[in-house]
Amino acid sequence: MEHKIQILLACLVSQVLLVAVAEDVECVPGFQEKNYELEYQSGFRKEESILKVNFDDCHGNENVNFEVSHPAFIVDEDGSVVPSRDVTDSGSTLFIHGRTAFADDMAEIKIHGAPERRLTLKEILGLGESPAFMRTKRSLLAPPMFVPENQRAPFPKNVGKVSLKTNIVISSEMPDSALFKLTGKGADQEPKGIFYINKKTGEVLVSRSLDRERIAFYHMQVETTDLSGKTLEGPVDVEVAIIDQNDNRPIFKGGPHVGEILEGSPTGTTVMRMTAYDADDPNTDNAVLRYNIVKQTPDKPSPNMFYIDPEKGDIVTVVSPALLDRESMPSHKYELEIVAKDMAGSDVGLTGTATATITITDKNDHAPEFTKPLFQATVNEGVTGVIVNLTVEDKDDPTTGGWRAVYSIINGNPGQSFEMNTNAQNNQGMLTVVKPLDYEISAFHTLLIKVENEDPLVPDVAYGPSSTATVQVTVMDVNEGPIFYPDPMRVTRHENIPIGSGVATLNATDPDSLQHQTIKFAMLKDPAGWLSVHPVKGTVNTTAILDRESTYVKDNTYTAIFMATDNGSPPATGTGTLVITLEDGNDHAPSLYPSVARVCEDSKDLSVVLLGGRDEDISPNADPFKFELGKQAGLEKTWKITKVNNTHAQVSLLHNLKRANYNLPIIVTDSGMPPLSNSTEIKVQVCTCKKNKMDCSAADSLHMSLAMLICFSFITLLCL
Ligand SMILES: *[C@@H]1O[C@H](CO)[C@@H](O)[C@H](O)[C@H]1NC(C)=O
Ligand SMILES: *[C@@H]1O[C@H](CO)[C@@H](O)[C@H](O)[C@H]1NC(C)=O
Ligand SMILES: *[C@@H]1O[C@H](CO)[C@@H](O)[C@H](O)[C@H]1NC(C)=O
Ligand SMILES: *[C@@H]1O[C@H](CO)[C@@H](O)[C@H](O)[C@H]1NC(C)=O
Ligand SMILES: *[C@@H]1O[C@H](CO)[C@@H](O)[C@H](O)[C@H]1NC(C)=O
Repeated sequence: MEHKIQILLACLVSQVLLVAVAEDVECVPGFQEKNYELEYQSGFRKEESILKVNFDDCHGNENVNFEVSHPAFIVDEDGSVVPSRDVTDSGSTLFIHGRTAFADDMAEIKIHGAPERRLTLKEILGLGESPAFMRTKRSLLAPPMFVPENQRAPFPKNVGKVSLKTNIVISSEMPDSALFKLTGKGADQEPKGIFYINKKTGEVLVSRSLDRERIAFYHMQVETTDLSGKTLEGPVDVEVAIIDQNDNRPIFKGGPHVGEILEGSPTGTTVMRMTAYDADDPNTDNAVLRYNIVKQTPDKPSPNMFYIDPEKGDIVTVVSPALLDRESMPSHKYELEIVAKDMAGSDVGLTGTATATITITDKNDHAPEFTKPLFQATVNEGVTGVIVNLTVEDKDDPTTGGWRAVYSIINGNPGQSFEMNTNAQNNQGMLTVVKPLDYEISAFHTLLIKVENEDPLVPDVAYGPSSTATVQVTVMDVNEGPIFYPDPMRVTRHENIPIGSGVATLNATDPDSLQHQTIKFAMLKDPAGWLSVHPVKGTVNTTAILDRESTYVKDNTYTAIFMATDNGSPPATGTGTLVITLEDGNDHAPSLYPSVARVCEDSKDLSVVLLGGRDEDISPNADPFKFELGKQAGLEKTWKITKVNNTHAQVSLLHNLKRANYNLPIIVTDSGMPPLSNSTEIKVQVCTCKKNKMDCSAADSLHMSLAMLICFSFITLLCL
């Protein structure tokens, strides 16, 4: 036991000596002491140095660049660490990054008793309270390592050192030939070769400049092997954290950044939020942003109409509601140039800029107003259409219902002759005549028109007297043509009234009653030429016998058209129709058909001739007809005529008759009062009938008159 302690002591002494010798012999670039310790009292006072670090790049320390993990601390050229403000939130650890063209190193200041800062590096690394090097129970010791991003050449650079536990028993058992081996992503896995390890010394080196924003943390393993590659110790985790530098500026993503604010909004109304992103470590001030408005365009009515919350980026109004008046502003759009600065807005912070465009939206805070109180219009009677356009002004936004006008007629439109419509293009009120006006009824109209917006006005604004206007409409007289009444005029006349009879008196009046015009009548259309008209009196008389049976008469009616012309200048004309319904007179005797008929010679055959009557007149001047044999002696001995119905009769033989043609006189009489008769003849062929055949051939040769027939009969009788 004693022996072992002696060896340990000897070993320690030799190491100390070795370090002392090395310092004398060779300058090691970087912090000459890497760990400093302090007791925390009640915070650090502004500009009072807390300690001095010793940094030497072995080339005269030109342009040393120090960065402290806490932005409130600055390192002077002589190495004094000085707070730029009073600091109570230093946290328990500060890292100092020192850099020149020849050196790049880190030192750590432990502040005992300091309240934990929001962001400690341990938290950044997620290491928690138990340090990584305590995790392993093995003999390999891999402390957490830190590499600042964006280091400059030369490379490689030392990152840290893996060492064997200073356990003499174990180390003495380690063979000299043990080699360190580094594995994992960043070493032998993609991204390969960033880190490697000095096989002999355990020094971990970085081969190139790194970007925290791409990979912030490397997790690798280290082990020791013998020469054959067999693992002796480990593997244990090696964790390398990349320390952020403020190498990313804030960026406003997306855009355009637009917002809207209703005019008259109360001071302090939030318009929109501007958000910038900083790719740097969000746990450091490198990504702590502050917002600011640097420019407002236009700068009227006030150059500072908006304020941006430096931390949240919310843009709010600071102008009074009265000044936030869209109608009095030089523009409805304001552009704000917003700058976001990292390092919590400190002078050294990087900036990003964006433009916020704010539209002042309209409230219906202006009523439409007529441009004048009185409008005048002139319109011809009898026409329709737009007669006057009423102009209004409204200061509100023309794209809104706070501008669009709605018109109504509130007085002077009892006959609903007028209508108000809005011209969608220019908001004008179109006064329209929808029912033609009549000069003779009213030559003058006075209308009261009201205009309102589609949208209601805001409560403190009302429609004033300018939102009503008077329109005086003057109706112009137009020479209107005379109008017939009634039209058509209907009369009923007997067809056979004497020539010159009065048929009707035309009644036409001139609508221009106030002008006392005179009217002249004339015939326009008289198809059969039966009528005449008195030019002044308008009496219509016949000039011919009317004929109900004429082709000009349809359905017992005859239609004539007359014209009435006034003496206006120019004269105006109207037309009227006269419809005469003609009553029938018994002016046609009936006629008989057919004119030729056949009958069998043998009376036993009981063949008959069917006769029909026809009359151009209508009932009661037509059927029923009366059929009689002609007034000739003896006819009724041979022929018999029998009524079939009102229009037909049949003729039959009373005894056999010789085959021949006979002319049979017949009288047909209509039922008119007085009746008209037609004494006419039909030709009857007496034929030989055999079975279904009728032989009438001989009939042509024997052409006998009735007298001969009688004579013949008489001779026959004598012969018997
Ligand atoms: C009214 O306005 C319409 C549309 O602009 C136009 O066509 C019309 O001629 C105008 N009418 C009068 C009477 O001014
Ligand atoms: C003539 O026409 C007028 C209307 O224009 C009417 O009031 C009057 O009764 C008519 N006279 C006759 C006789 O039909
Ligand atoms: C037309 O008829 C009326 C009434 O029957 C008569 O008084 C007048 O004299 C007639 N006129 C002519 C021109 O025949
Ligand atoms: C009598 O009737 C015959 C035909 O049966 C016809 O041809 C004649 O025109 C008529 N006479 C009159 C006056 O109607
Ligand atoms: C009268 O009798 C004839 C012959 O039979 C026929 O054609 C006609 O339709 C009858 N008329 C009427 C009104 O019955």
